[in-house]
Amino acid sequence: MVHEDIQSTLSSDNATPSNLAKPFYIGEVYVNPPVILAPMADVTNGAFRRICAKIGKPGLLCTEQISTMALHHASERTRKMFDWTDAEKPLSVQLFGSDPAIMAEAARISEERGANILDINMGCWVPKVCRQGAGAALLRDHSLAIRVVKAVVKAVKVPVTVKMRAGWSQDLLNTPELAKELEQLGVRAFTLHARTAQQGFNGEADWSLIRHIKDAVDTPVIGNGDIRLPQDARRMMLETGCDGVMVGRAAIGNPWILKDIAHYLAVGELLPPPSVSERKQAALEHVRDLAELYGEERAVRHLRAQLPRYFRGLPGAVHMRMDVMTALTISRIEEILDNVLPCSRTRDDETGEDGYPVFQAANSFADRGSSSGSH
Ligand SMILES: Cc1cc2nc3c(=O)[nH]c(=O)nc-3n(C[C@H](O)[C@H](O)[C@H](O)COP(=O)(O)O)c2cc1C
Repeated sequence: MVHEDIQSTLSSDNATPSNLAKPFYIGEVYVNPPVILAPMADVTNGAFRRICAKIGKPGLLCTEQISTMALHHASERTRKMFDWTDAEKPLSVQLFGSDPAIMAEAARISEERGANILDINMGCWVPKVCRQGAGAALLRDHSLAIRVVKAVVKAVKVPVTVKMRAGWSQDLLNTPELAKELEQLGVRAFTLHARTAQQGFNGEADWSLIRHIKDAVDTPVIGNGDIRLPQDARRMMLETGCDGVMVGRAAIGNPWILKDIAHYLAVGELLPPPSVSERKQAALEHVRDLAELYGEERAVRHLRAQLPRYFRGLPGAVHMRMDVMTALTISRIEEILDNVLPCSRTRDDETGEDGYPVFQAANSFADRGSSSGSH
């Protein structure tokens, strides 16, 4: 059901910012602020989560999805995903799979290793995952989804959550019904990425679908999909009544967005953008931390696409991106970053190739309002 305070907010449309910044609980886990770093494969590893925790201070951080089958077969690569530290709390560990016993086993291992929340992936649409009956394929097989959730809930004491797409396809938007059933089994929160599995990342997220699931369940609902600016997060909360917001792509190379959103929800003002030296420091910290786990060359290669995002919109950023593509060592990265010019203000009219805004000066941010009025 829609919370009374949110309901009155919606009907009067005079939300005080602090209403929207209200923390919430997932089981015993306090999510404060109600801003969450999304699970992203090959992105939200320990190094990135730690940078996000330090700079963005979200109320919850998620691991990338972990294959329970690979864990069962003791894959070294998968074991390396258990790379969290006390700096990343509270932490939600996301599991994918379709075998209830193997999911339960992975849930127990994750809990023993300190997971605060276990999240079941019912949103991944990539064929490799769905062919195994896992991820969003579970949205097409409710009886299997139910067995998986029952097994995981029974296996652990920490709260279990589910992250889902709005349905398999436009003809099968059955998430609210499924969520109602899963809530009865003990699921303590739902995240909705407001696209169907068939959509992949195409088109825009349809936030009205978040509203539908919010109306169907009593447990907290976290809204997700296409939050690019703090104003988007506010609008999503107002339009859907969701309890929290989850941010994915906009946080890559921009961990500041998480605290910007929390601040905007709390006080209705935008923070100034990070300085060039803050960006350099964050990018270097990110790659150095990853090198601890992956080794230097692999870490540098892995972050070739991500490091330039810390500098989007700055003079010289395009050149820098080309240089980073050939770097193999951290000292070469340092050399390249030393050539990024310091400046007090970034261009505010640039949009990245994926449609995500580059860093913007606070004034232009405020003038512009929302990044898109089309939701
Ligand atoms: C590179 C990448 C990897 C992702 N990996 C996962 C994943 O492991 N588990 C998951 O549930 N969603 C995954 N997602 C989806 C995101 O969690 C999120 O639902 C989606 O990006 C929409 O949010 P956004 O518009 O804020 O990016 C991934 C998205 C991206 C861009």
